[in-house]
Amino acid sequence: MHRICVIGGGHVGLVAAACFAQMGHSVICVDNDSAKIALLKKGKMPFYEPKLATLVKKTANSKRLVFSDSLDNSIKKSKVIFIAVGTPPKSDGSADLSAIEDVARVIAKNLNSYKLIVEKSTVPVQTGKKIKETIARYKKGDATYDVASNPEFLREGKAVHDSFYPDRIVLGVDSKQAETILRQIYSKLKTKIIVTDVNTAEIIKHASNSFLASKISFINAVSRVCDKAGADVEKVSQAMGLDKRIGGDFLSAGIGWGGFCFPKDVEAFAYISKKLGYDFSFLKEVTKINHEQQLYFTEKIRERLWVIRGKKIAILGLSFKPNTDDMRFAPSINIVKTLEKEGAELTLYDPKAMNEAKNIFKSKKIMFAKDAYAAVKGCDCVCFLTEWKQFLALDFKKIKKTMNNALIADGRNMLDPVKLIAAGFEYIGLGRGK
Ligand code: UGA
Repeated sequence: MHRICVIGGGHVGLVAAACFAQMGHSVICVDNDSAKIALLKKGKMPFYEPKLATLVKKTANSKRLVFSDSLDNSIKKSKVIFIAVGTPPKSDGSADLSAIEDVARVIAKNLNSYKLIVEKSTVPVQTGKKIKETIARYKKGDATYDVASNPEFLREGKAVHDSFYPDRIVLGVDSKQAETILRQIYSKLKTKIIVTDVNTAEIIKHASNSFLASKISFINAVSRVCDKAGADVEKVSQAMGLDKRIGGDFLSAGIGWGGFCFPKDVEAFAYISKKLGYDFSFLKEVTKINHEQQLYFTEKIRERLWVIRGKKIAILGLSFKPNTDDMRFAPSINIVKTLEKEGAELTLYDPKAMNEAKNIFKSKKIMFAKDAYAAVKGCDCVCFLTEWKQFLALDFKKIKKTMNNALIADGRNMLDPVKLIAAGFEYIGLGRGK
């Protein structure tokens, strides 16, 4: 059992804290947002993530997980400190590391005994080195410390599952002591452990996210060719994915990737590569294809409706993917804003992200519906932008009756065009022929 402090109660930190506690460690989850900590102390979740509320409740009840807004005390009481604070993008594409630097200084100030400081947040290569230097500069006593990188690979919406069943654990360490402690922390998980130096671990994380985003952009580019050739991208990706060297995951064409990780990580990787002297222009193309895919989707709607101005458009699905209420950098934002700018009257619905959406879209032209059926009533087109399971169970006969014009724009290729066309709908997909 280790005494662990996780700094940051967000999508990565809170999940990690609860999972470490479940693995038998004694964990303090600390966040400088006192309102968030107060909420967590009451057993309420600051965001939606399946299975997390139950795990937090269980580990908090057993006292293995506690919450605090006092960084100083939490650091002093702990031996292992995981940094899981935000690293948002700056306007030049680089990662804003000011929260990490702040934390490094506070750790230095509270270094009352040996501590292992572990980066969990996604950071550019050489951040570990900077953390180490910062602590050396600000620490007072003679307590020793190590800095390690243990990148997180969990996906939102599947975070708890991914934490307990990871494909691999990466430990970027520069001392045997750091490696031993981290191995002990994860000893209950049965998976491959890759031990590297800190720089390599940092690159593994950036390269993994950039590769996954590239895979999606690749299939989205293929979807454009499929549309032009009258071919079916769904079959193309299915057949490609059966080749074990390619693999079928992250090969679904659609309106592209969003969320708080891919957009910022791809840009940050390109930025740091350039700074180190290599122009990774490939990654710029990956981002460009992603952006164009959203424009292409709205173009397809425009083509069918001729004029967007004055048309009633229903949007089903707003979160950047299903099973989360997260709308950060969601493709839906660009699509809704483009349609709104062109004068569409929009009605939005998402099973979980309504509060987030209300904070993002303030225009009078944008309305919010209580459910999917209310959203589509009287509309000229319905767009599916997130592949929520419950949308597959909708009664499309009922929907058709209430629509003004039976046009479906399927931004996730989640519906069956053959069935819908037979039921009298017009159908727009991506890469499924014009
Ligand atoms: C991503 C990575 O998958 C995680 O391994 C990583 O830990 C995380 O970033 C992070 O850095 O914290 P996440 O952002 O939760 O996880 O979401 P993903 O499931 O990767 O999906 C990202 C986007 O790609 C979504 O908008 C999704 O709709 C889109 N996507 C995914 C596609 O358009 N097509 C696909 O085939 C797969």
